[in-house]
Amino acid sequence: MPTSTKHLPDIFDRAKKVMPGGNTRSTVFVPPRPPYAVEGSGAFVTDETGRSVIDCNNNYTSLIHGHAHESVLDVALDAAKKGTAFGLPTRYEVDMAECLAERTGIQQWRFCNSGTEAVLMMLRAARAHTGRDIIIRFEGSYHGTGDEVVDQESLGVPASTRQSVLVLPQNDLQALSDVLQNHSHRTAAVLIDLMPNRAGLQPATHEFVQALRALTRHYDVLLAVDEVISLRLSWGGFHKHYGVEPDLISVGKIIGGGFPAGAIGGSPGILKTFSPTTSGNVMWGGTFTANPVTMAAGLTALRLYDEKAVLDLNIRGDHLRRQLKSAGIPVNGFGSLMRIVTPNIESLWWNLYDKGVLAGSNGLLALSTAMTDDHIQQVAEAVIGSTTDLSVK
Ligand SMILES: Cc1ncc(COP(=O)(O)O)c(C=O)c1O
Repeated sequence: MPTSTKHLPDIFDRAKKVMPGGNTRSTVFVPPRPPYAVEGSGAFVTDETGRSVIDCNNNYTSLIHGHAHESVLDVALDAAKKGTAFGLPTRYEVDMAECLAERTGIQQWRFCNSGTEAVLMMLRAARAHTGRDIIIRFEGSYHGTGDEVVDQESLGVPASTRQSVLVLPQNDLQALSDVLQNHSHRTAAVLIDLMPNRAGLQPATHEFVQALRALTRHYDVLLAVDEVISLRLSWGGFHKHYGVEPDLISVGKIIGGGFPAGAIGGSPGILKTFSPTTSGNVMWGGTFTANPVTMAAGLTALRLYDEKAVLDLNIRGDHLRRQLKSAGIPVNGFGSLMRIVTPNIESLWWNLYDKGVLAGSNGLLALSTAMTDDHIQQVAEAVIGSTTDLSVK
């Protein structure tokens, strides 16, 4: 039993009675049971025992400015006081769409409430636009919980969905080229995360991404880039790092300023499929979509995370990764995101927690602008200390 759970009250027993496995979000479960968060402030999160740890999970990379950032909360509260949701559009979503368009150079946007929804609507857009069914995607990448993007052998995925998804190894140009040659006439889009977290947080190679763009153009198949996590890595999205222009992009996490959010971007020619003024348009609703609180908080968070802030945070991440590597720790990632590679992930998670650092349950570390250099140094020391007894090195 990890030391941190020894004297915890019985909240997990209560949870087990009303939720399967005592859990509603499998990604935050750590055996035997996770600590429960009570509050967060800046770079820290405090659990039910009163223990504060440096938050390197940041709600799975979404809290780019850490917890309860004052300016973000001020605008969210201000918006909430004027009404949290309306059965009418508001100026907030227009401001946000303009911000994303300016940042990415992608002209049009539509909002939803999660990255999962964004990916699903992106695939729907691709299918509607091309009139084709097949989606090609890459092994090990996580794109949320929709039928098309989960493990195709997973219980609950219909056989018909399995037939419309082709899963290939990432960075295998030959496999991609062969599949496109044989199936392009039935393929709507190739879906890629340029640095897939679940697959190990290894950035795709430049050569592969350039060839992917050239091949999709050649075969007239859409390139759909899932930037739900990677938007934070470059001011206009991680695809800028590769110098390619996607046809469609999905975003989420940091664009909500800590509130639930997702969006897709694309050209007017593709997104017009959702326009209520187009005949035969594809329906897109969502009761809380583009609500003023999320839009206001997200816009402020994005404005604060300007080009300079993106670069600064990436430089600090690069420095931390170099420090860990020079201590012999296998670590992947890019800029402000990294992942410790170990077969003993559960022990690493608890070792880190006991040393005052909250990581992702897969060894993911996500920096926030709320962290000082001292915090990052403490993280380095905790990781180096935690891995010593785990034969990670
Ligand atoms: C690349 C990617 N796409 C989609 C999603 C799903 O986003 P959400 O959890 O907001 O539904 C995630 C979540 O981690 C993700 O990392």
